[in-house]
Amino acid sequence: MDRKDIEKRIMLGRSFITKFGSEEGIDESYLTDQEMKKPQPPLFKAAKPENRVIDLPKDFSELDISKDFLGIINRRKSHRVYTEENISLTELAYLLWCTQGVKSVRGKSYATLRTVPCGGARHEFECYMAVKKVEGLKEGLYHYLPMTHQLEFLGEAEDMDGFISESLSLQSWAVKASVVFYYSCIFYRAEWRYGIWAHSPILMDSGHITENLYLAATSIGLGGCAIAAIDPDLSNKVFDLDGKEETIFYAMPVGTVSEKDAEAENEFYAFVREEGL
Ligand SMILES: Cc1cc2nc3c(=O)[nH]c(=O)nc-3n(C[C@H](O)[C@H](O)[C@H](O)COP(=O)(O)O)c2cc1C
Repeated sequence: MDRKDIEKRIMLGRSFITKFGSEEGIDESYLTDQEMKKPQPPLFKAAKPENRVIDLPKDFSELDISKDFLGIINRRKSHRVYTEENISLTELAYLLWCTQGVKSVRGKSYATLRTVPCGGARHEFECYMAVKKVEGLKEGLYHYLPMTHQLEFLGEAEDMDGFISESLSLQSWAVKASVVFYYSCIFYRAEWRYGIWAHSPILMDSGHITENLYLAATSIGLGGCAIAAIDPDLSNKVFDLDGKEETIFYAMPVGTVSEKDAEAENEFYAFVREEGL
């Protein structure tokens, strides 16, 4: 790509954001699949019948959840140093509930209403996990079943640490997390309603999930870090996704943290000091 092509590519990236609902050259008669009354896609991805399913607790009363909302907001930060302790199954269930939990269904089965907002309530995401240190769970790969608040066990990873590190573009600090959340998008769930305009809201919607994850983790003394620099091909292969209709595109390791590691955390930004920025 020469500079001109790069400039064009940048403008294309901008138009992806600015042209929501007003793409030039699109015939006024263009209808989305929902407008054409095509059947809507499933609201969630069901477990494979051969996979083991695990019930998750929904009573979070045993957790010491901070009630100091402003304190949680102010304490939220990205954590990349973890103390490698177990988290409880209830803590994992709480994190899943706060990020994807289904509170009710709109209509007969038109939409799910969840703990996060989402354009058109399409909730086009699925949550997969690389579980390392969760009490009562075998280390391995899991999928959240939001309608029933359960986990689907997908199997063991051949080389869990290698997978986590490589799938997160060699950000190997993440292998010390208790669990790494991998978020996929099933595009058609959003495209059915928004057609050619589905894609920028998808990115807006995904931010709500990770922000809730940051806040939920902070509220129970855990820490995590959103990660965009992922290897989708490797992640899709491991979670058995086709990469076309459904792809992993966002991740977040979450683990146990200690204030004692504040200096080690700051070292991730040593370049700011070294380069005099
Ligand atoms: C969309 C997104 C992608 C990010 N990707 C990475 C990443 O790949 N690696 C990383 O170390 N931090 C990543 N971060 C964390 C940011 O670097 C961090 O939020 C930022 O430096 C501000 O620090 P704070 O979260 O502690 O306030 C990401 C954050 C967001 C929201």
